[in-house]
Amino acid sequence: MRLKTFDTSSLTSTEMQGYLHYAIAPRPICFVSTVDKNGEVNLSPFSFFNVFSINPPICVFSPTSRMRDNTAKHTLENVLEIPQCVINVVSYDMVQQTYLTSKDYPRGVNEFSKAGFTELASETVKPPRVAESTVQLECVVNDVISLGKNGGAGNLVIAEVKRIHINEDILDAYGKIDPHKIDLVARLGGDWYCRVTGDSLFKIAKPIDSTGIGIGVDAFPKEVKNSNVLTGNDLGLLGLVKNLPSDEEVEAFSKTDEMKELLDATIDSHTRAIHLHLKAKHLLDKGRVMDAWKVLLI
Ligand SMILES: Cc1cc2nc3c(=O)[nH]c(=O)nc-3n(C[C@H](O)[C@H](O)[C@H](O)COP(=O)(O)O)c2cc1C
Repeated sequence: MRLKTFDTSSLTSTEMQGYLHYAIAPRPICFVSTVDKNGEVNLSPFSFFNVFSINPPICVFSPTSRMRDNTAKHTLENVLEIPQCVINVVSYDMVQQTYLTSKDYPRGVNEFSKAGFTELASETVKPPRVAESTVQLECVVNDVISLGKNGGAGNLVIAEVKRIHINEDILDAYGKIDPHKIDLVARLGGDWYCRVTGDSLFKIAKPIDSTGIGIGVDAFPKEVKNSNVLTGNDLGLLGLVKNLPSDEEVEAFSKTDEMKELLDATIDSHTRAIHLHLKAKHLLDKGRVMDAWKVLLI
């Protein structure tokens, strides 16, 4: 792999933004409502955002100072005046209206009206919730930490969640949020976004044993570790097992019908090893991790 390397001090802010926005992606989007000291409402999206603590429940987002003139964004001014906000999640069917609110309307303009969203009164804080959002978090702002003085410097808004409202339509039969139903969007670099749906959703299997610690790739026989057939993801799956199968288990599996044709074929040992690795890969794709190991150890 050939790497292009930069000293960040040699990059312009625009170049830095380009590389970081594209590389640190996808980023969840929080849609933040705030009020100023006169009660005027503001609504803006931020993708420098995440959850950073569960107990206490803390989210952080970062309105940077405007790159063009180093002025503060209205959201930042508002939380410094009234340290409260509502963080609303953004689903696919809201994304174009959400984008509309990111335009530089003058202070005091209510972006709920500009974008056609509905204000829903909050229960514990002054800023209203976005009725169309499927998860709305009422928060108090515990702290605001400035990260610098230049245009583009971030301001970490430390928001403690006090109340969570969830649209029941996105819950599964167990009352948990269903990732297929919440239909989130996230931001990448430039004008790129992604929708968290369909084929982009997948699960990672838990380790096979109850202790939750697999043997790891460093414990593999070297022919498996250095396989030209198995990918990094295949090695990761194989590394989840607690123990390798015993010689007896390998022997028994080699006698099964599904192995017969492959093992009876008259081919040289190198070709046979490739076929065995291909067979193991096929079994891994079917979730049969222990059987894949039995094939690799034949
Ligand atoms: C999806 C999306 C994500 C954004 N994320 C951020 C961000 O994390 N930080 C930031 O300063 N601006 C971000 N922006 C730009 C702000 O939303 C924009 O500057 C907005 O005008 C700020 O509004 P305000 O001045 O009313 O607070 C984002 C825009 C979009 C469309």
